[in-house]
Amino acid sequence: MPTRLSMRLLCHVRCIGLAALAIASACGSPPAEKAPAEKAPAQNPPAPGAEKGVVAVIGTGTLAGALGPALGAQGYRVIYGSRDPGRDVVRALVQRSGPKATAVTQPEAAAQAPVVVLAVPGEVVVDVAGTLGDLSGKVVIDVSGGDKKLAPDGYQELTSDSAKAERIQARHPTMRVVRINLPNIVYFMDPLVTKTRATVFVAGNDPTARETVANMMFDLGVDPWDAGPLRFARLFDAFNTLANIPGQQRRAEGYQVVMMPTVPFSCFFDMVDYFKFGEPAELKQLPKFPRREPAPTCEEWMRRLPPMGPPPQ
Ligand SMILES: NC(=O)c1ccc[n+]([C@@H]2O[C@H](COP(=O)([O-])OP(=O)(O)OC[C@H]3O[C@@H](n4cnc5c(N)ncnc54)[C@H](OP(=O)(O)O)[C@@H]3O)[C@@H](O)[C@H]2O)c1
Repeated sequence: MPTRLSMRLLCHVRCIGLAALAIASACGSPPAEKAPAEKAPAQNPPAPGAEKGVVAVIGTGTLAGALGPALGAQGYRVIYGSRDPGRDVVRALVQRSGPKATAVTQPEAAAQAPVVVLAVPGEVVVDVAGTLGDLSGKVVIDVSGGDKKLAPDGYQELTSDSAKAERIQARHPTMRVVRINLPNIVYFMDPLVTKTRATVFVAGNDPTARETVANMMFDLGVDPWDAGPLRFARLFDAFNTLANIPGQQRRAEGYQVVMMPTVPFSCFFDMVDYFKFGEPAELKQLPKFPRREPAPTCEEWMRRLPPMGPPPQ
């Protein structure tokens, strides 16, 4: 049963949440980080010879051309999977992806790495996932958006009955499929290009797989946030649909998902008990997501909150 004090705090937190939403929508984006003097490295450069891990990047196109070299620069060993790995264009990509990068066929690449990124066109991603051999236990990253369906008004329909990542997981239950809301790939080339790091939501049914992907994204200089189980990937499809709107309207502007830390409910009351939202079954294995700045403590939040009015009657 909430106490009078917790009711006051709850009301207060709600008010702050609403105010923050209003400010965010009025301003368009949260305060920018300090401008870098020059192009910022994604993270700390890796120690010479250190290897972060092995990642198979399936495909050698636009996404692979941004992600692979960025992973290589952070100390990952990149193995490209290509239908034709002998092409000059693939060799050139390997050349700029770190000293240990290679290119082999798609199934060969997937067999050699514990983490497999499906950097192939969204239209074929579900089928391609089934051509890579036995990926049992491997972390398989899907980045593809939702199905495209045009509405009569010229915008896209919201297609949220299932995300492609869920379809891949359903067909291949032993894979550990993780979906990220892929930011504009320019953030992999320069994470501070807009002076604010992009948020990358990470959804997947296996919490340790989410943690693996979160650490990889953190190394690449974007900010990973835990998005829970894979079905929440359907929300990312909706974000993608939104992100297309300025382009469809031919505006000379774009926007990107950026989340900011806010007042944590759990500093004030038990949300699970109070709202009856349910307790996640994975709570004991909750992934640890890396953070660039430590989260403020509950005491710090208490100090920051402005004085409160009387409790609701
Ligand atoms: N957020 C962003 O800014 C952004 C930007 C670009 C792409 N994306 C997303 O990233 C994903 C990949 O897009 P992309 O532009 O990189 O695609 P892409 O350049 O058209 O193709 C990617 C690669 O996939 C391989 N491939 C193509 N068709 C295939 C097939 N039928 N079977 C197996 N492999 C095939 C090819 O590599 P090989 O010829 O070497 O086999 C190709 O180079 C998509 O989901 C796309 O929406 C996002």
